[in-house]
Amino acid sequence: MSRVYVFDHPLIQHKLTYIRDKKTGTKEFRELVDEVAGLMAFEITRDLPLQEVEVETPVGMAKSKLLAGKKLGLVPILRAGLGMVDGILNLIPAAKVGHVGLYRDPETLEPVEYYVKLPKDIEERELIVIDPMLATGGSAVEAINSIKKRGAKNIKLMCLVAAPEGVAAVEKAHPEVDIFLAAMDEKLNEKGYIVPGLGDAGDRLFGTK
Ligand code: PRP
Ligand code: URA
Repeated sequence: MSRVYVFDHPLIQHKLTYIRDKKTGTKEFRELVDEVAGLMAFEITRDLPLQEVEVETPVGMAKSKLLAGKKLGLVPILRAGLGMVDGILNLIPAAKVGHVGLYRDPETLEPVEYYVKLPKDIEERELIVIDPMLATGGSAVEAINSIKKRGAKNIKLMCLVAAPEGVAAVEKAHPEVDIFLAAMDEKLNEKGYIVPGLGDAGDRLFGTK
C-alpha cells in the first residue's frame, strides 16, 4: 500500500497559505510553488543512496559522501507540474527531467495524453512524478502508467494539494508508489476541483484562464 506523507513543516504550511490565497498574483504564485517544491524535495530525497569518497581539504584528507547511482529523474505532468521543477533543480541541479503531457477533459474529467519524453535508462533511476494537484487522480494514475510502460520501476509522486479521491485512486492503481503532499484537502466539487484547494493550478501559474 502506498505510504502517504503530508509535510507539516511550518515553512511549507506558511507558503501554502499564500499559494491558496486567491489574491496572490501570478508572479508570487509561481515563486511560492517553486519554493515549496524545493522544500518538499529536501524531505523526499532523504533516502537517496550515498557513496563514500575521499576529498582533499586545505588541511588534509577527509572521508566524505556523494550521491551514488544514476541521477534522479523528475517527471512533471504538463502543464502545471512544470511550475515545481526549477525549485527542485535548484537543490538537485544534476537531476534529469522527463515530461508527460496530459490534460483533463473538462467534460469527462478523463486524462488525455499528448506528449511523453523521458530520460534514458529510466528503469535504473529513482523518479519523482510532479503535479501540484491530485484531484480525481486520473492524471497521476495515467502518467505513472505511461512511465511504467516505458520501464520506470522506482517511482514517487509529489503534489501540493490532494483530495482523498485522488489519493485513493493512486493507491489502488499503483500501491507501491509513495505519495508526498503539502496538504490533504476535504473533497472534490461537482467540477472535479479540489475544495478548498487553490483553484486551477495551470491557469494561476501561467496567467491563463
Ligand atoms: C490539472 C492538474 C493535474 C490535473 C489533476 O491539470 O495540474 O494534472 O488537473 O486532476 P485529476 O487528478 O482529476 O486528473 P489540467 O488537466 O488542468 O491541465 P494543465 O496542467 O495543462 O492546465
Ligand atoms: N486541477 C486543478 O488545477 N485544480 C483542481 O482543483 C483540480 C484539478
